[in-house]
Amino acid sequence: MTIRASTPGRRGLDRIMAEKQGLPMTSAPASLTLPRPDDWHLHLRDGAAMAAVVWETARVFGRAIVMPNLKPPVTTVAAAQAYRDRILAALPRGTRFAPLMTLYLTDNTSPPEIAAAKVSGFVHAVKYYPAGATTNSDAGVTALDRVYPALAEMERQGMVLSLHGEVTDPAVDMFDRERVFVDTLLERILRDFPGLRVVLEHITTRESASFVRESSGRIAATITPQHLLYSRNALFAGGLRPHLYCLPILKRESHREALVAAATSGNPRFFLGTDSAPHARAAKETDCGCAGCYSAPAALEMYAEAFEDADALPRLEGFASWFGADFYGLPRNHDTVTLVREAWTLPAACPFGDGAIVPLRAGETLRWRLAEAAPSGIKATPTA
Ligand code: DOR
Ligand code: ZN
Repeated sequence: MTIRASTPGRRGLDRIMAEKQGLPMTSAPASLTLPRPDDWHLHLRDGAAMAAVVWETARVFGRAIVMPNLKPPVTTVAAAQAYRDRILAALPRGTRFAPLMTLYLTDNTSPPEIAAAKVSGFVHAVKYYPAGATTNSDAGVTALDRVYPALAEMERQGMVLSLHGEVTDPAVDMFDRERVFVDTLLERILRDFPGLRVVLEHITTRESASFVRESSGRIAATITPQHLLYSRNALFAGGLRPHLYCLPILKRESHREALVAAATSGNPRFFLGTDSAPHARAAKETDCGCAGCYSAPAALEMYAEAFEDADALPRLEGFASWFGADFYGLPRNHDTVTLVREAWTLPAACPFGDGAIVPLRAGETLRWRLAEAAPSGIKATPTA
C-alpha cells in the first residue's frame, strides 16, 4: 500500500510545531493507494433497483459476495446463475467487477444442490438467515436441525457458510440477539461441523469480535462501515434516524470501539463487508421501515475515515483488499485504487428506479475521495 505524505500547508505546519514541541507526529497523508478491495457482503436487489446501485460498487470493488435474499430467494444454482447474468448485464460496459454468488439456505436445501453449487464455480457461499430475522428472510431456516444434511455437505465440499447471526425469539431483547446466537447456535454449528468454514456476517458486538478472535482459523467475520462509525445513540440523535436502522442493530459505544479494534488489529479473520442494503426512501421513512444502510456510494471512503480515526490507515489494506480473498481461497486483486484527501459532500439522495434512495451519511462531507472514475450518478461537490 502506498501512503503519500501530506502536501505542504496547514498539516505541514502542524508537523513542524509537533516536532518542535517534542510531541508525537500525527501524519495526515494526502493519498492512499491500495490493491483493489472486495466487498464480502453486499445486497444488490434486482431489476431497476439493481441497475441503480450496482455501478457504485463496481467502480471501486473488484468482487462482491452478493446476498441471495431476493423475492423469491435465490435457493438454487440455476437461480444464482440467472441472477448473476442479470447483474453482469446491468454493469456499465468495460467493467471488470465479478459478482460472487450465494445460495439462500432453507429447511429444504438438498445436499445435491450444495454439491452442484460447489461444482458451478460461481457460488461461493450459502447464506443462513434464521426465518424472520431480517429483510426477505421468511423462507429462511426455521430450526437448525433441519439444515444438518446441507451443512454436512457444505463441510464436505468446503463451501463457506455465511451467517446472519441473530436469534429470532421475540422474548430475547433486540440488542442481545447476536450475543445469544453466538452462545447457542453458533457454538453448536462449530461443534457439530468441525471442518465447516464460517463467516459471521456484520458483527456488532464485543463478544462476537472476541469469539472470532479466540476461535480457530475456520471462522471469520465481516464488519460494516456503519458499525465502525456509529453507536446506537446515533439512531436517536435529535429524533429517530431511519437511515441508520439496520440489522443487526447498532449497539452501544463500547461495542463500536471493540469492532474498530478488531477491524484495525491486522487479524486476517476480520475483513470488509459493507452490507450495503438499498431500500427506497419511502420504504425507510415510514411507519414500519425496512432495515438496511445504503453505503455503496462511499463505502471505502468511510472505512478509510474509521481507520484513520483509529490511527490505523496502514492496516486498511489487509482488511479491505487481502483477508477476505485469502479466507475464501480466491486470488488477491492485482490492480489498485487510490483515495485522495479531498472533502466532498454526499448527495441528500440518489436516483433509485422511480424513486430515490438516501445513502449512508447523506448530505455529509467526507474527507477521503476515490481518485479515479468520478461517480457518474452523484455530484461530488468539492468543499475544500
Ligand atoms: O439491515 C439489513 N438489511 N440487514 C440484513 O440482514 C438484511 C439487509 C437487507 O437485505 O435489507
Ligand atoms: Zn446483509
